[in-house]
Amino acid sequence: MINRQILTLDEFTIQQYRKIPNATGELSSLLRDIGLAGKRINVEVNKAGLVDILGDEGTTNVQGEDVKKLDVFSNNQMVGVLQHGISCAGIGSEEMDDVVIFNDEISNDSKYVVMFDPLDGSSNIDTNASIGTIFGIYRRVTSPGQPASEADFLQAGVKQVAAGYIIYGSSTMLVYATRRGVNGFTLDPSIGEFCLSHPDIKIPDNGKIYSVNHGNFFQYEAPVKKYIDICQNKTKENGGPYTQRYIGSMVADMHRSLIKGGIFMYPGTTDKPGGKLRLMYECNPFAFIVEVAGGMASNGKQRILDIVPKKLHDRTPVFIGSTKMVEECLSYWKESQ
Ligand code: AHG
Ligand code: MN
Ligand code: MN
Repeated sequence: MINRQILTLDEFTIQQYRKIPNATGELSSLLRDIGLAGKRINVEVNKAGLVDILGDEGTTNVQGEDVKKLDVFSNNQMVGVLQHGISCAGIGSEEMDDVVIFNDEISNDSKYVVMFDPLDGSSNIDTNASIGTIFGIYRRVTSPGQPASEADFLQAGVKQVAAGYIIYGSSTMLVYATRRGVNGFTLDPSIGEFCLSHPDIKIPDNGKIYSVNHGNFFQYEAPVKKYIDICQNKTKENGGPYTQRYIGSMVADMHRSLIKGGIFMYPGTTDKPGGKLRLMYECNPFAFIVEVAGGMASNGKQRILDIVPKKLHDRTPVFIGSTKMVEECLSYWKESQ
């Protein structure tokens, strides 16, 4: 018997586009492609601990292929599904120096380009902590019918039509946002489908968890140090006490922030004044998701989604999460100006 309470990612995205007059369903097919890459990456990520064992077996690999690192594998999966799908004119990836413009008949007719971080938090693989894939989808500024161009990729985050992430955690989830809302789907491994499990996600307005790399504390600018100091000194009387959590995998730290509320920060440091995280592949997608969910994202001085990228791999400091916490953090930036 079919359980009608279960709504798969495909069914959900089709239901969504039927509500929009003249929609072509291209976005649905794009999300299905990304979901497919996510399932394939998930299979490999799950086997990560077996690499040595499988590596031994791998000696039977007559082609003599190298065992690809997981981030390269993930990148290849993302590029592959998007290139062979029908909805994507080109991609930009954290793993690749330049954009890839697909430039074939079907791709040239597509109206979207996708920017992604194929495997975020990859340094956590060895310790079995959660990692993920992050993506942002933009409508081309050039007209379909011709190959995409650089201008299609260098757009401000506010131009995203959709953004999302897949988290390979204690369960695997795909969460994506369009302007209509943020929805989360959990992978049911028994049927290999992402099933709607977290409809209409809203980030709590306030939270008690702040997430930052304390190891860099002395390298942060004064307003950041001040805000961290405030976080450490919160009491019951003013919304505290706060807890500090930092996994070192943005997807995992942001997924928790979205569900439980909180603030995630990756500030600039004296070594890296522009911060570490990539505007196009990490900050913009999460800024879009968090804003649709009711939260905020800033670089301390400017809304993340308003930043116009100069280069594909630009980095930015980021302060993102529950509105009240981000506002409080920003108040120390304003004070310092
Ligand atoms: P990636 O694995 O794609 O290079 O990204 C890692 C990022 C991000 O996920 C995380 O928030 C941050 O690096 C952690 O950096 P630090 O170890 O410097 O705190
Ligand atoms: Mn990353
Ligand atoms: Mn990465």
